[in-house]
Amino acid sequence: MQNALFASHQVLAGKDLLHFSDVSSDDLKNLVNLAKVLKEAQKSKFVHTLLAGKTLGMIFDKSSTRTRVSFEVGMLQLGGHALFLPGSQLQTGRGEPIPDTAQVLSRYVDGVMIRTYRQADVQTFADYASIPVINGLTDEFHPCQLLADALTILEYKGHLEGVTVAYVGDGNNLANSWLQLAPKLGMNIRIATPSGYAPLPEVIEEAKFHATQQGTEVLVTTDPHRAVEGADVIYTDTWVSMGDEEEAEERLANFEGYQVNEALCALAKEDYMFMHCLPAHRGEEVSPDIIDGSHSVIFDQAENRLHAQKAVLAATMADAGAFGEEL
Ligand code: CP
Ligand code: NVA
Repeated sequence: MQNALFASHQVLAGKDLLHFSDVSSDDLKNLVNLAKVLKEAQKSKFVHTLLAGKTLGMIFDKSSTRTRVSFEVGMLQLGGHALFLPGSQLQTGRGEPIPDTAQVLSRYVDGVMIRTYRQADVQTFADYASIPVINGLTDEFHPCQLLADALTILEYKGHLEGVTVAYVGDGNNLANSWLQLAPKLGMNIRIATPSGYAPLPEVIEEAKFHATQQGTEVLVTTDPHRAVEGADVIYTDTWVSMGDEEEAEERLANFEGYQVNEALCALAKEDYMFMHCLPAHRGEEVSPDIIDGSHSVIFDQAENRLHAQKAVLAATMADAGAFGEEL
């Protein structure tokens, strides 16, 4: 077991985590397992200083509670340090090119996490940086959230293979990341959105390709009932993501009928889990009785951001040999 962990954790060393397209099924499973190991270690007060002396730069062009705090605390718990770099206070906010910023920061820090609008900007940063770059949410993807979600499902269900997730709501960054992750972990993914709010077509195609290879189900529909019928997990997210604020009124009207509520959840398996990446809007995408009810795992899910983040940080930023000494 120790050797298997050692070998698997080196796989992402020095690499970026921008989305799941270029991450193999095995690497994703290893990341989730590493998150589990690091969580168990922390619960038994065991300290892994896998990132001793390392610094993470955290660039935020959008607001954050969970991502910011869990990355910062995660670095601290692994023996390193994190710098909060609000985009508006960097020179990029005054027009300094991303390639220059990426090359400069690569001389100071050991890794960068970016939360911004365009996935293309994170890709450009990564193209010019010589250090690992981690996507902390873009308009298109939110990979770190999904690793925490997979860990949470693993803890509750005991396995990931064959688990059916029904995502109901906006075909946004969360939905795109679910499509990329689920087939590679052997999970079934069903997504129900109103017409005009489906996930990215190329991501749906990619998911179908991997699902065929893995023998899993991918369903993208406008019918929430069809998505939730017999599901193990019901997942939703805000109808108005960061950057969509100007469309708020139109969106609230268009998403009517897509609320996760008691009537919809009654179609799922009896022991279904309710999940939400948070922040939530009670009375909009989810009714208060469901999000605050006995099937909801939202705070375990939020806690797992910390453990999953630590796995990503350690897998990408730890020195060769660090795992051999530590695990
Ligand atoms: N789920 C999530 O990413 O939360 P924050 O926006 O608070 O980071
Ligand atoms: N889809 C949401 C997720 C927030 C964590 C957004 O992008 O605002």
